[in-house]
Amino acid sequence: MKSSVLVARAVFPSVLDRLRGHFDVEANASDEPWDAAELRRRLQGKQGIFATGERIDVALLDACPQLRAVCNMAVGYNNVDVDACTARGIVVTNTPDVLTETTADFGFALMMATARRMAEGERFLRSGAWTKWSYDMLTGSDVHGATLGVLGMGRIGQAIARRGAHGFGMKVIYHNRSRLDAAIEADLGARYVDKPTLLRESDHLVLVLPYSAASHHAVGAPELALMKPRATLTNIARGGIVDDAALAAALRSGQIAAAGLDVFEGEPRVHPALLTLPNVVLTPHIASATVATRLAMANLAADNLIAALGCGPHAGRPPTPVNPGVLAGR
Ligand code: GLV
Repeated sequence: MKSSVLVARAVFPSVLDRLRGHFDVEANASDEPWDAAELRRRLQGKQGIFATGERIDVALLDACPQLRAVCNMAVGYNNVDVDACTARGIVVTNTPDVLTETTADFGFALMMATARRMAEGERFLRSGAWTKWSYDMLTGSDVHGATLGVLGMGRIGQAIARRGAHGFGMKVIYHNRSRLDAAIEADLGARYVDKPTLLRESDHLVLVLPYSAASHHAVGAPELALMKPRATLTNIARGGIVDDAALAAALRSGQIAAAGLDVFEGEPRVHPALLTLPNVVLTPHIASATVATRLAMANLAADNLIAALGCGPHAGRPPTPVNPGVLAGR
């Protein structure tokens, strides 16, 4: 008998077709996000979910004891209670690697746009305020040769560091749970530093660490107070890693020069103070948004779901499990 799966948001039709080749599929055709009660109702009797950030918590898992696979179309999986899934023998998967370079491109672009005041310049021009050239109009900070700080030196952090070191002659410093291999550090010319040093020495600080209780407000008022007044902060990781209210205050008072934010606490809502500030570049969580990469992410999430529920050429061996121990126990 075919397994049943839920696809919680709209996705590429070709990917839905692949899933329909293996499963009875219920898909969210309207693409309106379901609230928790609606998600619980729809997930009844389904063995798998193709998820795009929906909250998968104990209450939902308890209401859906038949669930066997939670396959997230994202590299981050802080929306999923992985321990609770593991305890119930549910495999959780994410979509690493396929988005690394695309996300690093965006992180670097956002950092450059922030340092060079591109969004502010565009708004200035469009408003009709540009009537003459002046020597200090919209002057920002150099990126080339500056010190790039990376907080969270996983795959995406390293890809950003590579762009900075090899493309822009930046000095790279980083802080991470664990140090990189010496060979990788040597290739990037990267220096491991403690977090206060990272905050104090970075000209451009980029956040690429996973969100967890431990990284909640990893950058708040005390951390911002350590940064240089000319420094920029770029967050492409997750909302909640930065205390957005404290950041808005630091941007307003000139404690730091500017910020580039692709992710927000409580998104899609954005802290109202950020919306009023000129020195922040705001984008709607699009760091992985190229057609090719989103398609690759969707196909990888589908590969995971198909294999996790015992179908396809890799039955039982989803390519990118987060809790692979569950599979050994099956
Ligand atoms: C996007 O934010 C992702 O985690 O893939």
